[in-house]
Amino acid sequence: MPLDSHPVRYAVLLMRTYMQDDCFVIERDPPDAVGVRSILPSLGPFRKGPFLIDGVFIDSHWNSDLKWKVLLPMLEDLLPILRESRVRLADVGSNNGYYLFRLVDWMLGLDPTWAEGDRLCTAFDPVADFEAQFRFLHGLLPHYPLRFERAGWQSLSEHDAFDIVLCMGVLYHHTDPAEMLRTLRSSLRKGGRLILETMVVPSREDRVPYAIVPPGRYAGAKGIWFVPDVHALLVLMRRTGWQKVELASVRSAIDEQKRFGDFPSFREMLDENDITRTIEGLPAPQRAFVIAQK
Ligand SMILES: C[S@@+](CC[C@H](N)C(=O)[O-])C[C@H]1O[C@@H](n2cnc3c(N)ncnc32)[C@H](O)[C@@H]1O
Repeated sequence: MPLDSHPVRYAVLLMRTYMQDDCFVIERDPPDAVGVRSILPSLGPFRKGPFLIDGVFIDSHWNSDLKWKVLLPMLEDLLPILRESRVRLADVGSNNGYYLFRLVDWMLGLDPTWAEGDRLCTAFDPVADFEAQFRFLHGLLPHYPLRFERAGWQSLSEHDAFDIVLCMGVLYHHTDPAEMLRTLRSSLRKGGRLILETMVVPSREDRVPYAIVPPGRYAGAKGIWFVPDVHALLVLMRRTGWQKVELASVRSAIDEQKRFGDFPSFREMLDENDITRTIEGLPAPQRAFVIAQK
């Protein structure tokens, strides 16, 4: 046998993952809490989580498990696609990849051989700290078929590349939501699915589609350009070429964003006497999931 041949291609990975309350737990054998603690200061604050890694609790600004629980039934509906042997999935605006780690973990729970096929999930996010967090997490779970591209939706130049695109919490941050929706659409293959999540404002009684453009901060956040009501969101999606556009859920995300060091909770960004208004006096946002097909 040639010296450079390796009959055993995969080391046995001694580790397990599970959920403990709302915390994504990764336990290696042997654990290395000292190693985990030593790397954390270089990774910046975690926005998405929380995690418990080798006994080290990594808190996060958002309790991401709450959104995951809303997303999961939509993914269950897409199981035939997710099980395809060459499925390609993208999470655009992935942050540290939290939802992709959860998705792969869930798929491996359903089918322990899922990661062995030619399947690939790509996390897109332009922020270096989030890439560093992703690489740290992926280093713990290297058999998860994931990759990271430090890039925004504007760089989705490959057409027909994906079977499923997730894009959550991104639309309202951009000056041209129609262009963004068209770009997401062209990145999908024909028949591919988009799961989109965004902030929405409450609808008018007469159901006339409308959107607000906050003049400054919105619920304390900078860089919010466009917050539609659900009717305007559905119209925009249909007018940008999407088929089978369906509103999957509307929720109050009031408990998802917690106080975290200097980062405020969502509740703090609402009028203390009227939680239907933001501290700026604008209608308080809810969050909607929409699913659509190319
Ligand atoms: C509000 S967070 C949402 C994160 C995650 N998708 C979620 O739903 O919890 C917005 C994310 O979009 C990323 N982002 C910023 N500019 C972007 C762009 N041009 N394209 C895609 N994502 C972008 C940010 O770095 C951040 O991680």
